[in-house]
Amino acid sequence: MIIEDARLDEIREFLPEWLERSRQEAAAGEVASYIPELSKAPREALGIHLLDKHGDSASAGDCGMAFTLQSISKVFTLILALMDNGEDAVFERVGMEPTGDNFNSMLKLELVRPGIPFNPLINAGAITVSSLIRGSTPEEKSARILEFFRKLSGGSPLEVNEAVYRSEFETGNLNRSIGYFLVENGVLNDSVEDVLSVYFRHCSIEATCRDLARMALVLAGDGTDPLSSEKLIPRRYVQIAKTFMITCGMYNASGEFAIKAGLPAKSGVSGGILTFVPGALGIGVVGPALNAKGNSSAGVHLLERLSQRMDWSLF
Ligand code: DON
Repeated sequence: MIIEDARLDEIREFLPEWLERSRQEAAAGEVASYIPELSKAPREALGIHLLDKHGDSASAGDCGMAFTLQSISKVFTLILALMDNGEDAVFERVGMEPTGDNFNSMLKLELVRPGIPFNPLINAGAITVSSLIRGSTPEEKSARILEFFRKLSGGSPLEVNEAVYRSEFETGNLNRSIGYFLVENGVLNDSVEDVLSVYFRHCSIEATCRDLARMALVLAGDGTDPLSSEKLIPRRYVQIAKTFMITCGMYNASGEFAIKAGLPAKSGVSGGILTFVPGALGIGVVGPALNAKGNSSAGVHLLERLSQRMDWSLF
């Protein structure tokens, strides 16, 4: 599919009304509370920002609201780990298959040999990926991640939300269990606490829908930022990231989202969704109320309707 014109004029006309319709879907969802700080997010919020390769944009709703990237960050730490280590070294430690299980499930870790995580977007895989980021201390790794994310967002002054970081650090016992399990299986060689501090920190990087759209725009092409013409990611690693977004990006709802919206996407438990229309648009969405699969209820509703109306499906 080649889209020459992203038709933002058309989208601007109906977007505010469609967003208000989708906002009603928030009533069916719940704001994540297993990281206590996240439960403060407004349940009814919904925002979207769409950005094309010429810098034109359309936005609606609570698009200025800041939220933490959570699992959306996993796409970009995977890319950085690939840039740091190459494909072979990363996939020695993390698999390429969807699990069909919850993002924090340990079930499949026990079922396969040699016990490596199924893919880099579930927690076990993303924790492993965090350990592969180059840097001699957790602080150095975290600083490199933040610098990479700022570059991808077009120089936005992204920062870690320290309250969310501490909240997850203090309560993240399931992720600690996963970490120790990975040490036991020889997948992780570093201190679990050090790796988790890198992992929790990148999950706690705060952004807006505009930042997400700008980061997504780099993936919408071949890894070049279309607005600065700077090559930020090798094409091969963009291909890998996009493929994981299709197969695993919406967790155990990835198949359904691929059928209904047909776009590569990555969600986070703060209610963010990063997606793009290949070659045409970067899109950031936030809606903190989550459905049973852990994806934004209202955000998924809005994206599926938008994609169907604009005929964006890849397939
Ligand atoms: O590790 C966690 O549980 C969170 N920091 C990230 C989880 C997440 O966003 C899952 N996504 N839907």
